[in-house]
Amino acid sequence: EKGGYDYFMLKEIAEQPQAIADTLLGRLSERGEIVLDEVRLTDQDLRDVDKVFVIACGTSYHAGMVAKYAIEHWTRLPCEVELASEFRYRDPILDRSTLVIVISQSGETMDTLMALRHAKEQKARVLAICNTNGSTIPRESDAVLYTHGGPEIAVASTKAFLTQLVACYLIGLHLAQVRGVMYADEVAAVVSRLQRTPDDLRELLADMEDVRALARELKAAPTILFIGRHVGFPVALEGALKLKELAYMHAEGFAAGELKHGPISLIDDGTPVVCVVPSPAGRGVLRDKVVSNIQEVRARGARTIVIAEEGDDTVGAYADHLITVPRTPTLLAPLMTTVPLQILACEIAAARGHDVDQPRNLAKSVTVE
Ligand code: M6R
Repeated sequence: EKGGYDYFMLKEIAEQPQAIADTLLGRLSERGEIVLDEVRLTDQDLRDVDKVFVIACGTSYHAGMVAKYAIEHWTRLPCEVELASEFRYRDPILDRSTLVIVISQSGETMDTLMALRHAKEQKARVLAICNTNGSTIPRESDAVLYTHGGPEIAVASTKAFLTQLVACYLIGLHLAQVRGVMYADEVAAVVSRLQRTPDDLRELLADMEDVRALARELKAAPTILFIGRHVGFPVALEGALKLKELAYMHAEGFAAGELKHGPISLIDDGTPVVCVVPSPAGRGVLRDKVVSNIQEVRARGARTIVIAEEGDDTVGAYADHLITVPRTPTLLAPLMTTVPLQILACEIAAARGHDVDQPRNLAKSVTVE
């Protein structure tokens, strides 16, 4: 049932190209419009939205962080992302023109469900992104966009995360189109770029031997730090979460710009720092900022593991280990940059002798608050 893989997690990582393709299937109409499923919200409802909240837990929350960048950029609507367990206890300001997007692989996460109910009590519109048909969260929402990732068995979320990203992009594009901020052809251009990501990902997955070797080298490290900017920041958080969850190692993700405000003191001789580098195309400034952060940590002895785009010819000079990913537009890059971090965590955990699919103290679906 593991399809020849040692762990469900490795099988599910390998299924990611197909999971993305399935989630994209049939979403673009002939007129270039995005088609969502079970959307019991009218276009007028979506035009009336004046603020978006994205609410989730764990890995799904990291997808929500990426969604914020995409939604604000494409729709020009203010978008806040928040942990479900924090959201309803701080008296958030919601009304009928607020769109609340809840993200949950299982559809049964109690914190997310309680946040959803709170949002509905305040009359907000709720749209769920979910991987499990007929589960509680989509049943209680006004609209649903299912991620067609197929069942995810490993406790660590992998293919669900990438398909959640795809769903967030689709919702952002749909909102932008309905609200007249993007034209159908602009939306179709992003969708067709998304449609190329499964092939790009297959190419990336075929070449992960270096990451496996690196995992064996890092298995005894006392800590591993992850840094990124913009959408690379949630990717850094996700890489650190995977490592904590599976390898029981200390790991932390930071916004690279925050290093000098404290965390840089953690860097000692040989401290591994995984650096997620933005594309040099489009937002070269961002990429250059991360490169200077890499130089800063290196100057303090860090061992740098750099995830960068193919064709970024100069970044290698700052990398003790360079992992390249296919070229992808900035907002879509997490579909690529996350994957080596999933494999790194999985392989480090395996090298440390842990049960990769069933980490201690964790459940696949967290149905208590
Ligand atoms: O089913 P959900 O997406 O609501 O689950 C949320 C988190 O519990 C989940 O993503 C958790 O963080 C994963 N085990 C991370 O790999």
